[in-house]
Amino acid sequence: MTFDRRQNGELYVENTSTSELASRFGTPLYVYSRAAIESAWHAFDQALAGRPHLVCYALKANSNLGVLNLLSRLGSGFDIVSGGELARVIAAGGDPAKVVFSGVGKSADEMAIALKAGIKCFNIESLSEIEVLESVAQAHGAVAPVSVRINPDVDAGTHPYISTGLKENKFGIDTTAALDAYKKIADSPYLEVLGMDFHIGSQLTEIEPYQDALRRILLLCDQLKEYGITIHHLDLGGGQGIRYRDETPIDLTAWASAINDVLGDRDVEIIVEPGRSIVGNAGILLTEVRYLKHTADKNFAIVDAAMNDLIRPALYSAWQEIVPVQPSSAPEASYDIVGPICESGDFIGKDRTLSVQAGDLLAVMSSGAYCFAMSSNYNSRPRAAEVIVDDTDMHLVRERETIESLFEREKLLP
Ligand code: LLP
Repeated sequence: MTFDRRQNGELYVENTSTSELASRFGTPLYVYSRAAIESAWHAFDQALAGRPHLVCYALKANSNLGVLNLLSRLGSGFDIVSGGELARVIAAGGDPAKVVFSGVGKSADEMAIALKAGIKCFNIESLSEIEVLESVAQAHGAVAPVSVRINPDVDAGTHPYISTGLKENKFGIDTTAALDAYKKIADSPYLEVLGMDFHIGSQLTEIEPYQDALRRILLLCDQLKEYGITIHHLDLGGGQGIRYRDETPIDLTAWASAINDVLGDRDVEIIVEPGRSIVGNAGILLTEVRYLKHTADKNFAIVDAAMNDLIRPALYSAWQEIVPVQPSSAPEASYDIVGPICESGDFIGKDRTLSVQAGDLLAVMSSGAYCFAMSSNYNSRPRAAEVIVDDTDMHLVRERETIESLFEREKLLP
């Protein structure tokens, strides 16, 4: 088990004590388990073992160089959405030839850098983007490999902010316009048709939406064949959900076999872009209780982590489990776990029954994905440190920010 309790009741990450982590590195502190990240990646790789495939970790979920480095050592590919993410992949030792570039708003500069780096594929989302990519490739005397992101118009049944495969979402090209997009690409000497992709949403727990989307894009592949256009890979995006509370996550073996059922004997490489399911349950956030505050209506546990460190509860009403690091003899009560930021939206959890007192450590579970990555310096709070635990080793993979660094790029008026 990655996170479990020892005889004294203390929470451990692999074979490392969480209180030791907190006393060595301070709080708030993000802690990731190397073994958990690696096993989640292998689960995808093994599920797809029956066909040519590439697991492209979506680094928007967690782009720490240490995390990227251990995935690149496994041979992972990467799904990027910016020039900054490409630079991170390269700095972490990743192979640009295994990079797919997603996103609705790539700049010409980002395209040029990615083209020179030799990425595997540009996942294009609009006709205007095709034109810009074509001129960038022409200017570089290069041929850009392209996949068109199709909006399959399927309802993946997730939170509206993280659903992406519906007609009303800004993502992808609808199936009717896609035919013209592919013809345009095929006709250009500077573009090459490589694949077709979709990404229908995040934190999905059902397999059927993937099958529906795949069926729809296969129809399109068949249509393209009539025009002599061959699709070499299908990129099914990411989106596989994790258990935060009581969700039943997608079983990857069942998912892969459902995908294979739809694919039949088609000879294509499969690409996937999982983010959350690789790192989400491989990380926790350690935070210390500063004060308890009891009012007529509520009890508050004011902790040293805040919405700038972990914004998911405030932004999506997301629920993440919060547990004491050590058993406490303090009286049990229902608490809102809140941070020091001056907003009522600054909460990590509400109405949680806990035995805590000031000075106790809490762990916010399932914090490996979209937590540090979405953190900010709001209220001039330095961002937390990040540690990767490997058995009993603790690797500091991001130092805590200093206060001075927060305004080192700012200037007084002359
Ligand atoms: N590929 C594309 C094109 C994406 O837009 C995303 C996520 C992924 C792959 C990876 O999806 P995943 O496997 O992680 O579900 N901040 C939100 C999640 C936003 C997801 C955005 N796109 C959250 O905290 O829940």
